Amino acid sequence: APASSCLGAGARDPSVQQTLQTEAKAPRLPPSPAGCSREFPGSRAGARCAQTREEAPGRPRLCARPGRLMQAFVTRRIPREGLAALSQAGVCSIQQWDSDEPVPRSELLAGVAGKHGLLCVLSDQIDKEVLDAAGSNLKIISTLSVGVDHLALEEIKKRGIRVGYTPDILTDATAELSVALLLATCRRLPESVEEVKNGGWTTWKPLWMCGYSLSGSTVGIIGLGRIGQAVARRLKPFGVKTFLYTGSRPKPENAVEFQAEFVPLAKLAEESDFVVVTCSLTPDTKGMCNKDFFSRMKKTSVFINTSRGAVVNQEDLYQALVSGQIAAAGLDVTTPEPLPTDHPLLSLKNCVILPHIGSATYATRNAMSVLAANNLLAGLKEESMPCELQL
Ligand code: NDP
Ligand code: DGY
Repeated sequence: APASSCLGAGARDPSVQQTLQTEAKAPRLPPSPAGCSREFPGSRAGARCAQTREEAPGRPRLCARPGRLMQAFVTRRIPREGLAALSQAGVCSIQQWDSDEPVPRSELLAGVAGKHGLLCVLSDQIDKEVLDAAGSNLKIISTLSVGVDHLALEEIKKRGIRVGYTPDILTDATAELSVALLLATCRRLPESVEEVKNGGWTTWKPLWMCGYSLSGSTVGIIGLGRIGQAVARRLKPFGVKTFLYTGSRPKPENAVEFQAEFVPLAKLAEESDFVVVTCSLTPDTKGMCNKDFFSRMKKTSVFINTSRGAVVNQEDLYQALVSGQIAAAGLDVTTPEPLPTDHPLLSLKNCVILPHIGSATYATRNAMSVLAANNLLAGLKEESMPCELQL
């Protein structure tokens, strides 16, 4: 059952334990109401008022004055900093799906009803059905992400709803992870670690565990935006010889730092030793890395995707990896997420897959939560947002 408990579920998940450790460093707040975890599965009690544990003496008792404050729905457990910013502002009462697991669709539809604000994450599909369920009160959607492909933007715009998002503050973390994934993939780190553990390391062998180097290479970046540039900036000191990039139009102002050449997608595929995908997911980029694309790549080339899984046709990628059409792939994003543990891509040694952790540093996730909270608050107050998406 989803979200079967608050702390219980988290304690079994190592990545969540890290979050709990961070929280432990924060000032202690009044404990959650007893029984929260037991009431979670599928019940309305699961989506409870966050301020019951966040409000401090002297601050407005938000729940006690319904109707006098605006109301917001938060679809996930978020870092304490963000929740504190929301609950201490005295602007809105907050109803939250207080779990690390996604809010069930029925709870999302019920939770958003009548709300003025919605703070969501990238795995919540905010489509027409959700907007209809929210009704005409909804004036601001704040997403804890820079990617906005989970939002029905046309429908949102039509309804005059404003959107806040979290660009820039996650660029460094995501670029770091992209470089880490690239190096792990081209130098076969997960495979090598496994060989050490399973006894495959018998002696130093001249022909064993060889990979590919960035030095003297050509790197092709699909989408030389904030993250694409930050990746190029980090790769340059490794001795990359040539940067290529593609996008909807040349961006000389972004490219000059790397002397990057704007090329069509096909040329980028043909000439790159490393392809790094850092574009946004749009109707134009969906499935862009497909059979034709992979067939143009060199057999020695490495493919890295830290944008969105749907930019890649995974069946075509699998065939390219199995047939030796390309050397290796590193993916931080997949379709679906999570990738089923029996997915064919997971059986390949030349495919390194991470669980969408591009922005996952403590500092970045904390900053994202505060920015998302401040976007929501500004939207509710009809003020200019720190980061508003121009629709
Ligand atoms: P930006 O908007 O700065 O960059 C997006 C880039 O995509 C732009 O350079 C844009 O180029 C390019 N693009 C758009 N259409 C195309 C196209 N048809 N072909 C090639 N490129 C295209 O966004 P960010 O750099 O901040 O973020 C990029 C994406 O990274 C996010 O949308 C998100 O999906 C993903 N992301 C993933 C993370 C993770 O954890 N793995 C973390 C953070 C972000 P142009 O302007 O020329 O159209
Ligand atoms: C985003 O922000 O779009 C990432 O995928 C998660 O940080």
